[in-house]
Amino acid sequence: MGQPDASQRSEPELALAQRDPEEESVHRALEGYYRTGKPPWDTGVTPPELVELVEGRGALPPGRALELGCGTGTNATYLARHGWEVAAVDLIDSAVDQAREKAAAAGVAVRLLHGDATRLDELDVPGPFDLFFDLNCYCGIPLHRRDAYAAGLTHRAAPGARLLMFGYGPEPLGNPMPEVTSWAAGVTADELRARFPGWALIDVTPGTNSVPTFWFTLRRDA
Ligand SMILES: C[S@@+](CC[C@H](N)C(=O)[O-])C[C@H]1O[C@@H](n2cnc3c(N)ncnc32)[C@H](O)[C@@H]1O
Repeated sequence: MGQPDASQRSEPELALAQRDPEEESVHRALEGYYRTGKPPWDTGVTPPELVELVEGRGALPPGRALELGCGTGTNATYLARHGWEVAAVDLIDSAVDQAREKAAAAGVAVRLLHGDATRLDELDVPGPFDLFFDLNCYCGIPLHRRDAYAAGLTHRAAPGARLLMFGYGPEPLGNPMPEVTSWAAGVTADELRARFPGWALIDVTPGTNSVPTFWFTLRRDA
C-alpha cells in the first residue's frame, strides 16, 4: 500500500511530514513532559501580566485572541471567560485534549487546535486577531522556524493588535540539548525587534524567576 498523497493527509500529519530533526527533538521533549502527567509550567494559574491586560486599568476591550502554545488551556479558558473569542494552538495533542476538557468544564467555547504555531497556514485560524498570547512557546521554537512564526502572526494581526509574550533570556538552562538551538538562545528584545517588522516593542518587563525572564509586549502598527 502506498503513502497517502499530501492532499489526503490531516493537518497534524502534514506538519509531521515537514518537521526536521531539530523540530523532532523539541517535539519529543515536549511529549515527554506531558507524558509525566503534569509538566512543571502547568500551574493552572493565569499570570498577573495577562490579568492586567484583560481586567486592569486600561484593559483591552474583548475581541479575538489567539494563544500560541496553549498547553492544557488555562489561559485560553481565562480569556474566553472574560468575553474574548479565543482560538488556541498547541503542538502536543494530549495537551489540546486536556484544554478541551478544561474549556468544556468551564462552560466556555474555545477553538482548540492541535498544530504548529510556526505553520498557522495549515490550521483554520484566519483572524484577524486583536491579541496574541504566548507563554514560553516562541522561546522553545528552533531559531530557523521563528521567522515563520512571526509571519503567521503578522498576517493575522488586526491593526494595533497586541502580542504579549513571556520568554527566557539567553542561556537560561545551560544547554541541555545542544541540537536544539532555541533552548540556549532564549529570546531577547533585539531579536523580537528584528523578527517582527511592522510591530513596535512597547514594553519589556523582567519576570520574577531565578533566571532572566521577560514579559514582552509588541503592538502591530495601525
Ligand atoms: C511552557 S509551555 C506553556 C503552556 C501554557 N501556555 C501554560 O501556560 O500552561 C509551552 C507550550 O508551547 C507548546 N509549543 C511549543 N512549540 C510549539 C509550536 N511550534 N507550536 C505550538 N505549540 C508549541 C508546548 O507544547 C507547550 O505546551
